[in-house]
Amino acid sequence: MMSADTRQLNAMQKLPETGDDIWLFGYGSLIYKVDFPYLERRPAKIFNWQRRFWQGSHDHRGTPEAPGRVATLIETPGASCEGMAYRVSPSVFTQLDYREKNGYLRVNTELHFADNQVSTGLTYIATADNSAYLGPASEQDIAKHIARSKGASGENSEYLLQLAQSLRQLKIEDPHVFAIENWLTKLTTQHSTLST
Ligand code: SIN
Repeated sequence: MMSADTRQLNAMQKLPETGDDIWLFGYGSLIYKVDFPYLERRPAKIFNWQRRFWQGSHDHRGTPEAPGRVATLIETPGASCEGMAYRVSPSVFTQLDYREKNGYLRVNTELHFADNQVSTGLTYIATADNSAYLGPASEQDIAKHIARSKGASGENSEYLLQLAQSLRQLKIEDPHVFAIENWLTKLTTQHSTLST
């Protein structure tokens, strides 16, 4: 089982020399929380992966004792995942590796842009062998889990709701994310009705 802190593993991966820009594909918080410098950003799609809230969060949206649930990519032949690509300088990866250290490894991927242009790039993926991984659950159970979790970066529900909102703005269809959002909204409404 891989340690929950992936910084060392990521640092071992060779990056292009400084000066060569790299495309980074973001599909979760990297879509809506852009706290790193970039040279250009463009919506992009990757094939054979799908976005799933199957990764545990011990740092940003939960704690080791009560992990939150955040997005990762699950390898699924025939599927695709739409997100946002950022052209960044290699030096940005120190900061990104720190931010994504809770189980995410940099993986090489092919990015497809709207104009049919294709580029190679990197994306952070938390696979089933990292110790913070939680795995599948029903969308209703994921919503319940998210509703009760929070971590150093804030409420877990904020992660889900901001992602859903950004996907809508980008006109990206993601039934998994929108189903969790629906359950979460129902839970919150029920809760506020009960407490009034
Ligand atoms: C990503 O957004 O691409 C990686 C997962 C995350 O930081 O939420």
